[in-house]
Amino acid sequence: MTNPLRDKFIILGVTGSIAAYKAVEVASKLTQSGALVDVILTEAACKFVSPLTFQSVTGRKASTEADLWGGEGHVVHVSLGHRADLVLVAPISANTLAKLAMGIADNLLSVTVLASSAPLIIAPAMDVDMYNQPITQQNVETLRKRGAIIVGPESGHLASGLVGPGRFSEPIDIVNQARYILSRGGKLAGHKVVITAGGTSEPIDPVRVITNRSSGKQGYALAQASLDLGGDVTLITTTNSLPEPAGATLIHVNTAHEMLEAVLKHSTDADLLIMAAAVADFRPFRTASEKIKKEAGVPTITLEKTEDILAEVARKREQFGFPRRVIGFAAESESLVENARRKIKQKRLDMIAANDISTSDSGFEVDTNRVTLLFPDGTLQELGLQSKFETARLILEKASSWFEQG
Ligand SMILES: Cc1cc2nc3c(=O)[nH]c(=O)nc-3n(C[C@H](O)[C@H](O)[C@H](O)COP(=O)(O)O)c2cc1C
Repeated sequence: MTNPLRDKFIILGVTGSIAAYKAVEVASKLTQSGALVDVILTEAACKFVSPLTFQSVTGRKASTEADLWGGEGHVVHVSLGHRADLVLVAPISANTLAKLAMGIADNLLSVTVLASSAPLIIAPAMDVDMYNQPITQQNVETLRKRGAIIVGPESGHLASGLVGPGRFSEPIDIVNQARYILSRGGKLAGHKVVITAGGTSEPIDPVRVITNRSSGKQGYALAQASLDLGGDVTLITTTNSLPEPAGATLIHVNTAHEMLEAVLKHSTDADLLIMAAAVADFRPFRTASEKIKKEAGVPTITLEKTEDILAEVARKREQFGFPRRVIGFAAESESLVENARRKIKQKRLDMIAANDISTSDSGFEVDTNRVTLLFPDGTLQELGLQSKFETARLILEKASSWFEQG
């Protein structure tokens, strides 16, 4: 099971911020991911959004102040706090932030947070002046130093009409942070995974490049699947257009040469390297320093070979023993298995994911892939048509078993 949110008890504290209505989406997304979400609303939060709304999206009781002094008062805060795998306060008001920083426990939410030893994520949302107050900053720092994970706030247009930091983070970013925190301790815990994603671009002149159709989607899915298994992920990417997987360290590169340097640098202590990027085989021999003018006629662009990253990796690996395991990708439009068999030997890979790009539902840009896994002993496993995330999950399931065996 690699969905870190499934069957996890999450307390979602909601406070009296104008952004309280956005917490409904957080609750909904967590629930859809399989989490059991117990919402606690402060009195002020109830002015903005009804407990019934949360109950409707979570299918579970949403608690309010009345429950603290109700017949099961003690049971509610202690039992909620104790069984929680994660406490998330989103949005957290300046007021509740101050209470948690000081250990004040005068309402159901603050008592429950104090009664819980689960990881704490907070997502502040308030007006820019409230957020910039030295006392608020100090409270945020106090909680951070105590181990709380702070998501946001973002900078942008606020309800007051002012512009600046204080905006509630996107619900999906908060959910992804929860997913990351709950994934720690998985099968890849303590293992460094380096993944490349996207297509490189090789400059012809300051405005033109030679590139390819790789979107980076499969690489990002591999990063998410590795994170879900608890891995420490470094994602070397050429794209800015996909959401960053929460918890990954991102390294942005453009050219094949930059990718080579980044891969060699970051894989010196890596347990696993997955080369999912589409790296250019050729680049212009010379890059013009000024834009090539069309008045000068049709230019002749001479190409040269780029460095072979996997060959360089194989050399380093022989010398230093790192990266410990390497997975390559082969995008092929013909003779899929034969070409992949040749590559796995040449590049001394532990696995190759041969990607059939001859059909429209597999390969570049689309959200699905049709991948065959090949291994050095000649065996192969057809994954069939899958989403890129499911393809990634199956690849990582296999790869993580290498480390279980030591
Ligand atoms: C219309 C309105 C909007 C508010 N928005 C925010 C907000 O976005 N962030 C915040 O920290 N406080 C905000 N407040 C102030 C809090 O609601 C107030 O400090 C309250 O005591 C917070 O209580 P709680 O932390 O127990 O939820 C707002 C108040 C009102 C009346």
